[in-house]
Amino acid sequence: MPVAAVKPRTLKELRESGWKSKSVKQELRDNFIRALADGDDLFPGIVGYDDTVIPEISLAVLAGHDMLFLGEKGQAKSRLMRLLSRFLDEEIPYLDIPDVPVHEDPYRPITAKGKQFLAETPEDEVPIAWWPRDRRYAERLAPGTKFADIIGEIDPARLAGGVSLSAEEALYFGLIPRMHRGIFAMNELPELDELVQVGLFNILEERDVQIRGYPVRFDLDVLILFSANPATYNRSGKVIPQLKDRIGSVILTHYPLDRHSAAAITEQEADIPLDGEYPVVVPYFMKEIIEQISMAARRSKYVDHQSGVSARLSIANYRTMVASARRRGVVLGEKPAVPRISDLAHLSSSALGKLELDLMAGHQMTEKQVLDAILAEAIRDVFQEYVDEHGLAEIAEVFGRGTKIEVGDLLPSS
Ligand SMILES: Nc1ncnc2c1ncn2[C@@H]1O[C@H](COP(=O)(O)OP(=O)(O)OP(=O)(O)O)[C@@H](O)[C@H]1O
Ligand SMILES: [Mg+2]
Repeated sequence: MPVAAVKPRTLKELRESGWKSKSVKQELRDNFIRALADGDDLFPGIVGYDDTVIPEISLAVLAGHDMLFLGEKGQAKSRLMRLLSRFLDEEIPYLDIPDVPVHEDPYRPITAKGKQFLAETPEDEVPIAWWPRDRRYAERLAPGTKFADIIGEIDPARLAGGVSLSAEEALYFGLIPRMHRGIFAMNELPELDELVQVGLFNILEERDVQIRGYPVRFDLDVLILFSANPATYNRSGKVIPQLKDRIGSVILTHYPLDRHSAAAITEQEADIPLDGEYPVVVPYFMKEIIEQISMAARRSKYVDHQSGVSARLSIANYRTMVASARRRGVVLGEKPAVPRISDLAHLSSSALGKLELDLMAGHQMTEKQVLDAILAEAIRDVFQEYVDEHGLAEIAEVFGRGTKIEVGDLLPSS
């Protein structure tokens, strides 16, 4: 919703401004519809998902669903989740009163303190502040996340010592209650402790939760996003069925469908300058080899398919390749430096640790050996495609003209 030139600072001014209260999902839907109607780039920076993933997310937003992003590692799940905050209002008003741990809707407070303040204070004395879009998104990684972190905790000392405190007043708010009117993303949902899953389900579905045996009730308004790897998500017992059941839409992500879009992602994400004092010019076939390495790894029988091979592998390998060429450029004063096959010998530094070996297959290969085999396969495949396309004759002719080639990562290009 557009904010007036002079932002309302009291509840009275807010009412006069015509501001209307909406749920997060309503707000997201309204702004999303506007962006869709205007033909905006809905998810800037996302490559190759125009026909598969983005339509699914669009429907989920329009349907007002919580979402689970299901896919192997490095498929832009986290990136997509963060991008959803684009569709929040630029700012929303909240009750600017001390000791209330949530950003209360000025028309519909959910805490006892908020409600009481409204009841006792004339509207032109109720202070309003504004909560910006980028503060309304929070995320957590499931492993190690405790009940108290994301749901809450009751301080028994305060309950025992206080003057007839209600449970709510002795409550320490976890991250989800504090994200009331915002977006909360939980990464790697299957790794979330079962007790926390139950708490999460209760707080979202029943709106109340037992903390240390004390029932606490809130009308929380949060859009919840989850991410998970399909292999663990589908393993029975990892995610409680009630929670699965509550997730409105499942968005299946995937790796780039072709090498060209894979290369576009890598170039965009590598964030390494090619110009400067020692410029580097990357031939397209070298980019293709970098992508072919990841594609070969995703197919390799030595690599754990369930875990996947992230886009980060291509991105890191690309940077190492450019770095190796640049080092040569600096040492030999070569401008521009051009990456070559021998530069790929350094890829183990960026690739190791990014391949998870398939231990069940019972191979006795080390990660380095697997990587070398994948590298050789990728180079061969790309080279073969060029031979198929241009013919060996064309390539042989270049050598036939007396070209001698000596290669190595520290020999000059010409
Ligand atoms: N389709 C894509 N478009 C743009 N960038 C992408 C795409 N796929 C992967 N990436 C890039 O790959 C990197 C990893 O993405 P991200 O962290 O969002 O993955 P993820 O699916 O959350 O992975 P994980 O399961 O490991 O958390 C980011 O730099 C991201 O921009
Ligand atoms: Mg992620």
